[in-house]
Amino acid sequence: YILDFRVSENVQLHDNYALLKLTPADGCPLPEMLPGQFVEVRVDRSPSTFLRRPISINFVDYPHNELWLLIRKAGEGTRTLCGLQAGEILNLVLPLGNTFTLPESAQERILLVGGGVGIAPMLYWGKYLKGKGYTPRFLLGFRSDKDLLQYDQFRQFGEVYVSTEDGSLGEKGFVTQHSILNEPFDRLYVCGPKPMMVAVARYARERQLFCEVSLENTMACGVGACLCCVEDTVEGHVCVCKEGPIFNIEKLKW
Ligand code: FES
Repeated sequence: YILDFRVSENVQLHDNYALLKLTPADGCPLPEMLPGQFVEVRVDRSPSTFLRRPISINFVDYPHNELWLLIRKAGEGTRTLCGLQAGEILNLVLPLGNTFTLPESAQERILLVGGGVGIAPMLYWGKYLKGKGYTPRFLLGFRSDKDLLQYDQFRQFGEVYVSTEDGSLGEKGFVTQHSILNEPFDRLYVCGPKPMMVAVARYARERQLFCEVSLENTMACGVGACLCCVEDTVEGHVCVCKEGPIFNIEKLKW
């Protein structure tokens, strides 16, 4: 779909993040969206950002007919998005990409790992898992306590463990150093900076765990036309926007 959305709320989170809550401008119900999928946002107001921006789906609040996008101010385009006011219109292409693989049994021990703004898809995935009778747990990593995002929202869906690089909250260090990883898990789902995902993938490989990662390769077209998001996999070069963004680590050459 290519749809206009109205900003119903723009919640500023710390200095560098905003949570945009969007509702279809025509009042129609939201289309079905799956965890891990993303949208392409058109950033109209800025001349140098004519390409759409890929943003992961943070949450879908069907009762309120709202789609949540968590945005980190990185460049001009994302700054424009973070500055939107309630009532403004945003044009989105959605939903794009694939989804995570459901665990086979409710007994499986599941850990959802997110780093920085990479926590975004884990909120909706956690809600979805809980709704299907699974028991997700969350491991969230940030630079410091000032970067903590959506802790209370995650708490609604499972236990949350936090690590910060400077030790100002939770355990000090990277997510891969967190003591929760001494416990046995069956499945890991990961999204965050590439070095973090590579480290978690290595941890999972050593223990032969099922592990899926959400890749955040640079994207432009979002539909497999520009080839700027290509990832080298064991099956050759694939477009992350079309074949992903979710990949089992067995497919990746990390
Ligand atoms: Fe253009 Fe993937 S973003 S091919």
